[in-house]
Amino acid sequence: MEPLFGVLLGLILAVASSAQNNCTCVTNKWTVCAQDDSGNCTCTLVGSNREVDCSTLTSKCLLMKAEMIPLKEKCFQGHPHGLLDSDGIYNPDCEDSGIFKARQCNPTDTCWCVNTAGVRRSEKGDKSLSCSELVRTNLIYLELIHKKRSSAFDVPDVRNALKHLFESRYKLHPKYIAAIKYNSPLIQIRLNQSEKSRCDVDIADVAYYFEKDIKDDSVFNSNSTLTVTVNGDALDIEKLQIYYVDEKPPEFCTKQLAANISAVVTVVMLIAGFGITVLVILRWLRTRKYKKAEIKEMEEIKAQSLQLP
Ligand SMILES: *[C@@H]1O[C@H](CO)[C@@H](O)[C@H](O)[C@H]1NC(C)=O
Repeated sequence: MEPLFGVLLGLILAVASSAQNNCTCVTNKWTVCAQDDSGNCTCTLVGSNREVDCSTLTSKCLLMKAEMIPLKEKCFQGHPHGLLDSDGIYNPDCEDSGIFKARQCNPTDTCWCVNTAGVRRSEKGDKSLSCSELVRTNLIYLELIHKKRSSAFDVPDVRNALKHLFESRYKLHPKYIAAIKYNSPLIQIRLNQSEKSRCDVDIADVAYYFEKDIKDDSVFNSNSTLTVTVNGDALDIEKLQIYYVDEKPPEFCTKQLAANISAVVTVVMLIAGFGITVLVILRWLRTRKYKKAEIKEMEEIKAQSLQLP
């Protein structure tokens, strides 16, 4: 009697846990999933009722929106550090398809135009500002610095490891990886998506997932942090810079720093005793060199995101 009971209990537990495992959103932790009576699992974004396709990446616009929800609640509680007016992260307006609306405004009616990566590509204006179209970010440059090591990696090994990472983790078709250059400790990756088919993931979404992975705040629904290995050795990324280049030059009145680049986002990483911590996000916008130490805010975003189901 007892062994049979044990087997039954085991079976029940196995079925229950497999059902649970089947109904989570692998590609997006900012979701709530529920299984209906016929076993179909549907996942919706936290704070909105948008259904998410968990077989692919969620768009950056919808991710940023989901990330803003705890911050908004904080503001309602009279928290002094609303990030709504910050340039890096804001509460975006998304189209039904999930892409950014060309014009974004904050609650104080300051408006600006963005590209498909959601990065500001115009001066800020008031409600009368119009953005005629959403301009595509067709080139993204990722610059990585890896931790010092006694000898450099082999170039083909670095290339293969990163190609594999982008293909398997971010579902990016390799034809969009235009180049990977390596000169220890600098790795440069050029993503080129001049022409994109409808079902392909967008390089802006890929870059955002990658950025979040590097910040140790992965969007993926697992507790595992990103580990990249090159020929069996860990590739520890210390610093990441992302350059966004649009199909059309950005519309800033001020002198251009570098042709066509709308913004550079820099993520500086330091290895702390307890793991990797985001210390500073530096951001340059055209000629105005603009440094923002968002240490506190980033910690808050991180703390908030950890509390989500
Ligand atoms: C991007 O790809 C297009 C063709 O798909 C090519 O014409 C263009 O030169 C490429 N640009 C860069 C900077 O790689």
